[in-house]
Amino acid sequence: MKVNSTKILVVDDEIGYRKVLQNALTERGFLVKTAESGEDALDELKKQEFSIVIIDMKLPGSIDGLELLQRVKGMYNSSVLIMTAYGGIETAVEAMRRGAFNYITKPFNLDEIILNIDRLVAQQKIIEENKYLHSELEKVYGLKKIVGSSREIHKVLDMISRVAFSTATVLITGESGTGKELVARAIHFTGNRKDEKFVVINCATLSENLLESELFGHIKGAFTGAIKDKKGLFEEADGGTLFMDEIGDIPKSVQAKILRVLQEGEFITLGDTVTKKVDVRIIAATNQDLLKGVQEKEFREDLYYRLNVINIKMPPLRERKEDIPLLVKHFIEKYNKKENKQIKGISPEVEKEFYHYNWPGNVRELENIIERAITLTHEDIISVQVILPLVKKEEKDEITGDALFARPYKEARRKAIDSFNIKYITNILSKTNGNVTYAAKESGIERQYLQRMLKRYDIKSRNIIMEED
Ligand SMILES: Nc1ncnc2c1ncn2[C@@H]1O[C@H](COP(=O)(O)OP(=O)(O)OP(=O)(O)O)[C@@H](O)[C@H]1O
Ligand SMILES: [Mg+2]
Repeated sequence: MKVNSTKILVVDDEIGYRKVLQNALTERGFLVKTAESGEDALDELKKQEFSIVIIDMKLPGSIDGLELLQRVKGMYNSSVLIMTAYGGIETAVEAMRRGAFNYITKPFNLDEIILNIDRLVAQQKIIEENKYLHSELEKVYGLKKIVGSSREIHKVLDMISRVAFSTATVLITGESGTGKELVARAIHFTGNRKDEKFVVINCATLSENLLESELFGHIKGAFTGAIKDKKGLFEEADGGTLFMDEIGDIPKSVQAKILRVLQEGEFITLGDTVTKKVDVRIIAATNQDLLKGVQEKEFREDLYYRLNVINIKMPPLRERKEDIPLLVKHFIEKYNKKENKQIKGISPEVEKEFYHYNWPGNVRELENIIERAITLTHEDIISVQVILPLVKKEEKDEITGDALFARPYKEARRKAIDSFNIKYITNILSKTNGNVTYAAKESGIERQYLQRMLKRYDIKSRNIIMEED
């Protein structure tokens, strides 16, 4: 006999049915209890939970089948199978509406009952498995935090899941604000170190001495000001992950010591004599070109190769603009919650503006703009008037510096004037909420001339809403 831990409660007032079902189901390995009335059944249910309850609709006493069904559903996640006498279809249908899994009419065929039970068990197994998978996914929240549907982001997500379970060093490169730290966290919280510490150090903000003492710790008296022993971050992160942000800014003396940790897993605390062993996974990030650093002898070549075992390149936002809508939605939800607002989205003009913008500050810039727009907006849609002053206009297809001077004088002058005009006009219009008459008055530009410039620079399509006076 196959042992099956599924518990079944059979509720029927007729002893014949109870016996038949008990025998057949016990034979199949189920743990079966029986009850002859609703009250009796509730007593059993109070004692323990049953995954499956088989209920006869017609029961003696004050609790009938329908009520018992409801009581069971209120107590547990049990699946309920209904039995009904011929002619009781209406109540059976009602029972289905109240959450019964299925009904069978009496007199029944034993195979039919068994078939139903088998289906129920299979279904419950799937539900359990889904629950488990879901909780596992919940645990890897790191991955879920990375929003985007572009091919580039999928590649990054794919890389993360492939490297998460190894201890190989990862170097994450990419422009500022592309999500390097987010990826580092995702790697840690997806992998088997997720219950251990994730320690962050920003290498760019610390002086050489401080950086060393932060990383490796010091003992009391190691230098002036070292008034007591201090544990370093390598020790702090033992068993877990150390995220070294801005690794390109590490002075050469410290580079050698980090190399040693990477190669031998050991280091010496400042002022101490004994070597310490640690098991730390290193994830490093930089927005610099480390290879260039290597060529210029600023960055140790051996360290570079040690760090760059796995390289994840974060693409700039301008190269994956299809991610913008999802990111916008994500940040609106985030800041709605924070600011207790109910903003529903961005206007089509803002969408266009975002699409044409080149996002020098990448996702961080988008997040900041949405955050500020949400605090500024009083309607339920973020409008272009709110957005325009927040977007760095001058970044938009403007030619400056050497590129400008490389052109023939006439053309360069034209470009410079055009870009000045566009900047000037959009600025004044955003101040006057798009009102052309006010803008003309404010600026002292003749109204017709202003209108002509709007046409020439196609500023309407640049999404300033023009209110006709
Ligand atoms: N794909 C993304 N989905 C959701 N949020 C993102 C995404 N990419 C970046 N962010 C958010 O943008 C902000 C900047 O990301 P992060 O700090 O990881 O960037 P970074 O590459 O480390 O930048 P820096 O080089 O300036 O340190 C964070 O608030 C982060 O949560
Ligand atoms: Mg960062």
